[in-house]
Amino acid sequence: MQPQQQMGETSRYLSGFGNEFSSEALPGALPVGQNSPQKVPFGLYTELLSGTAFTVARSEARRTWLYRIRPSANHGQYQHLERQLNAKLGPVTPNRLRWNPQPVPEAATDFLDGLTCVVANAEPGQPAGASIYRYAANQSMERVFFNADGELLIVPQLGALKLVTELGVLEVAPLEIAVIPRGMRFRVELLDSAARGYVCENHGCALRLPDLGPIGSNGLANPRDFLTPVAHFEERDEPVQLVQKFLGELWSTELDHSPLDVVAWHGNNVPYKYDLRRFNTIGTVSFDHPDPSIFTVLTSPSAIHGMANIDFVIFPPRWMVAENTFRPPWFHRNLMNEFMGLIDGAYDAKADGFSPGGASLHNCMSAHGPDHVSTEQAINAELKPHKIENTMAFMFETGQVLRPTRQALESPLLQADYDSCWAGLANTFDKNQK
Ligand SMILES: [Fe+2]
Repeated sequence: MQPQQQMGETSRYLSGFGNEFSSEALPGALPVGQNSPQKVPFGLYTELLSGTAFTVARSEARRTWLYRIRPSANHGQYQHLERQLNAKLGPVTPNRLRWNPQPVPEAATDFLDGLTCVVANAEPGQPAGASIYRYAANQSMERVFFNADGELLIVPQLGALKLVTELGVLEVAPLEIAVIPRGMRFRVELLDSAARGYVCENHGCALRLPDLGPIGSNGLANPRDFLTPVAHFEERDEPVQLVQKFLGELWSTELDHSPLDVVAWHGNNVPYKYDLRRFNTIGTVSFDHPDPSIFTVLTSPSAIHGMANIDFVIFPPRWMVAENTFRPPWFHRNLMNEFMGLIDGAYDAKADGFSPGGASLHNCMSAHGPDHVSTEQAINAELKPHKIENTMAFMFETGQVLRPTRQALESPLLQADYDSCWAGLANTFDKNQK
């Protein structure tokens, strides 16, 4: 599977991760040499969107200066929305859980209506943690949304999306991802008849590329493959509903203009997209299955050095060449907590029951690994080089236990018989045979 070069990509996107970008949709709109001149070109207003406290280390700081038609402050009171996200956590369970894919809705449903919280490990106002959602939609949003509770990592599984953000337009299809910073206003439009996927809401430190350690200065996700949109603005004086999520609840106000009216901007607090097919996958060329940390695309660090708040990890097509090795993931019980999804094809540790659009949860110390069919196949496989193709699974791995929402526990999509996928593991112990 080769990365697709998109038409006009270089004119629509700026390349690089964490750069100090600048972009102007009208030549001359961006002030030169200062951030906040007395009079901004074209009569625009200056506004700062900060993603970190002012005094964090420079290497951590994220902020963007916006030059817009109206300041964001130009709005009335927010009203509590009747339709909420049903993110209330359910009873504690240590069980391994798996959900079938969400069906595409039949009634008119936009991205926000189709968003359901599956698991979370923190209150939305905490400075760390994650909430994980799935979405299924069949209509473009006409309203505009922003999330005060964290940045959003969007993983489409079905249908391409057009994300019209304050800083510009990102188009993302399945096998690509997008990240929207905390507080950034955006609208999700559907480029196909239906859309489905996953969202990881990061309440903690912003996602960044992992350190590479002994891998060196190249490999895994390369910085130049991350794309940020160029400036694009709407000059529309008509009613627009603006919805925000604040401490887990949805609130709405009506504007008399589009809030996506930023004509020029500069900074590093930006939305971006990444094509997962560009991930430089590294694995063993001798023996044994390496730790899945070598598949980390993005990471959000926690206060404990080396322990992620969130790791976004993928399992892309790759060659399996290990000698004398049980090649799928080993059976394991980990400290970290694993929410998995499947974007495309099949996952090599599960023979069935884990479909594209499905999800599974294996929390701290829960015993799991390949199902009995995959295990028997792996023990008996002829170990010639083998390419796993047509697959893209991913994991949101978190340092704190992920608790399912009440809605997710009561959902008919929850599989009642997930444990049985390991039930067929026979006792093959024979003390007379080595
Ligand atoms: Fe695992």
